[in-house]
Amino acid sequence: MAGNYTLTIIKPDAFGAAKAGKIIALLEEKGFTVKAARVLHLTQQQAGEFYAVHRERPFYKELVSFMTSGPCMPMVLEKASAVSALRDAIGATDPAEAAAGTVRKLYAESKGRNAIHASDSDENATREAGFFFAETDLIFG
Ligand code: CMP
Repeated sequence: MAGNYTLTIIKPDAFGAAKAGKIIALLEEKGFTVKAARVLHLTQQQAGEFYAVHRERPFYKELVSFMTSGPCMPMVLEKASAVSALRDAIGATDPAEAAAGTVRKLYAESKGRNAIHASDSDENATREAGFFFAETDLIFG
């Protein structure tokens, strides 16, 4: 995958507030290309599996409950150094600490309801893209 792809999710708070279009436009303006996208309402099992790495964290139950509260929009994005570029574009987990112009500064309410997810490594981007998109190998070329 050579560092050019990452996985994002427009979370239920932002998708439910009809911010998906604005968020995608912002990411496209920053040079990301949407390579795959879908809309789905995660089950408890899917959300639990996706965030299994956080299972022992105190916010895990709240996180799974939030991520299953409505539809969300996972996407595979392409750009050079995609993982770090997307993390810069979305801003800090806590919107109060997010830089001006980032997705979370503009659209997130709190650390928990924070509008958007981004993979934190190339390895996790591959795993997370495979979670939502069966055709990942084709998308990644
Ligand atoms: P995300 O980048 O999707 O990955 C892990 C998620 O856990 C994170 O975004 C937040 O939505 C959530 N999270 C992290 N810290 C907290 C916290 N202190 N309270 C509630 N949710 C949190």
